[in-house]
Amino acid sequence: MSYIIEIENLTKDYEVGFWKKKKVRALDGLNLRVESGQIFGFLGGNGAGKTTTIKILMSLIFPTAGSAKILGKDISDTKIHSRIGYCPENPYFYDYLKASELMNYFGELFGFDSATRKRKTAELLTKVGLDEKDWNKQLRKFSKGMLQRVGLAQSLINDPEIVFLDEPMSGLDPIGRREIRELIAGLREKGVTVFMSTHILSDIEALCDNVAILNKGKLSATGNLNDLLQQSGERQSFEINVKGVTAEALKNEISQIPGASINSKANGANIQVLEETDIDKVLQIVREKGGTLVSIQPVKQSLEELFVAKTN
Ligand SMILES: Nc1ncnc2c1ncn2[C@@H]1O[C@H](COP(=O)(O)OP(=O)(O)OP(=O)(O)O)[C@@H](O)[C@H]1O
Ligand SMILES: [Mg+2]
Repeated sequence: MSYIIEIENLTKDYEVGFWKKKKVRALDGLNLRVESGQIFGFLGGNGAGKTTTIKILMSLIFPTAGSAKILGKDISDTKIHSRIGYCPENPYFYDYLKASELMNYFGELFGFDSATRKRKTAELLTKVGLDEKDWNKQLRKFSKGMLQRVGLAQSLINDPEIVFLDEPMSGLDPIGRREIRELIAGLREKGVTVFMSTHILSDIEALCDNVAILNKGKLSATGNLNDLLQQSGERQSFEINVKGVTAEALKNEISQIPGASINSKANGANIQVLEETDIDKVLQIVREKGGTLVSIQPVKQSLEELFVAKTN
């Protein structure tokens, strides 16, 4: 098995205070391996050490102890940067540059000729959903979400084999989030490995194959997301919304289904069942009482529960 990221015993102490320096351990003996070609979710609460880890991997700060390899090379070998993309947590660019100028600048750093830079700029700014009318606007006039998009476009300019995204969805509106989700899923299809930190559990559920959960600088769980959910003993349930019938009228018959529960709602009821096969039973009962179906949704509260259990 070849790993695209190998982290060994990574530890980082920050020195804080002006006169009396005190050490704060932000990362504590992290060991982690990531296989290539997947979307890897790096999770953990505020201050868990996610950004610290990513900054060490990018050689922006240095570890107190431990080591790491990306693409089989030690992270101190900065030649690997030509094969890596990185979008920081709060992308900060020179304010007076226009989006297109920034892309052109990064393109030059990677040694692309003028025509290639132009083509890549248009391609990537389109891909991240930045309106063409904003391409020649100065970045100081950009909103947080627009900057986030430029940050993402910039991280892909060198066709990286692996991209590190620190909270790529923060600051995006719902449509933006959906677009960026699709973009990230598209990267995996092209064989690009994505290492992303995020708090947004629905994005993790939609995108990530494997995850690691950090808790106060220490690894508290890692592995395949579905396996972790199964191990934590949670199971999927289904929520069925119906109208034209009251919860009161359905209560007795629904209670015959093991594990099912029912709540009343305006003009209808909300029924939860544990098994997919129970859905048909519920629908039959509802129809017999003159009700109709509004929606059926699988409910996975389990990821939230797993997250809470592993970060306390
Ligand atoms: N430059 C710094 N100097 C001192 N302490 C720092 C510095 N950067 C981070 N820390 C501390 O290190 C710990 C980890 O911070 P880090 O930014 O890595 O967390 P995070 O997991 O990215 O959190 P968030 O989800 O809020 O972005 C925190 O306790 C934080 O206060
Ligand atoms: Mg962070």
